[in-house]
Amino acid sequence: MRIDILTILPQLLSGPFSDSIIQRAQDKGLVEIHLHDIRKYSLDKHKKVDDYAFGGGAGMVMQIDPIYRCVEALKAERSYDEVIYMTPDGNSLNQKTCNELSLKKNLIILAGHYKGVDERVRDLLITREISIGDYVLSGGELAAAVLTDSLIRLIPGVLNDETSALSDSFQDGLLSPPVYTRPADYKGHKVPEILTSGNTKAIEDWRHDQSIERTKSRRPDLLED
Ligand code: 6GU
Repeated sequence: MRIDILTILPQLLSGPFSDSIIQRAQDKGLVEIHLHDIRKYSLDKHKKVDDYAFGGGAGMVMQIDPIYRCVEALKAERSYDEVIYMTPDGNSLNQKTCNELSLKKNLIILAGHYKGVDERVRDLLITREISIGDYVLSGGELAAAVLTDSLIRLIPGVLNDETSALSDSFQDGLLSPPVYTRPADYKGHKVPEILTSGNTKAIEDWRHDQSIERTKSRRPDLLED
């Protein structure tokens, strides 16, 4: 998989991708992440990428031309499955969307800033709009990092134990059961006995029951459909 991220703050995104799982995935050749500074595609002599909103109002709007030129340059090299715009008014990200997008070959992700992008960017270039929740971030960069992380960990070979992504909360529509490790007794707080029983079938049943109980009490909405 190849992910191209368009941003005016590439330095904000270099950190999250140069550590641990995502770095290892890149080193193994399972994913390529390319950061593109939108400013480099501005033809303005001051490398301007934003301007006042037509009709007035507070806040700057990202202009279409630098974004258009950056996307065109990428599309000239290869074809893209989706051009995703990270925006609080997009569709809420969930595991189903992550699973679907993790199967794609080439993705462009646009991180918005200021008051948003000129609507024509959305009309002409964007194929999908994604939000990571009902709250507002100062820019789409961290949201792009969240989306990228959620996709990369689903690519076969990225996680050491390939089954572990499958047993995540949400992967089967249920929350994960509680987990414990040593010591079996911490200041009198003991691990549920069944987990040290060695009875694999009973442990599997217990975990499933715990998943259902946890989902019922914390996220009953997940059980509705
Ligand atoms: Cl994708 N962008 C911004 N700026 N804020 C958000 C978001 C995205 N998702 C939730 N809040």
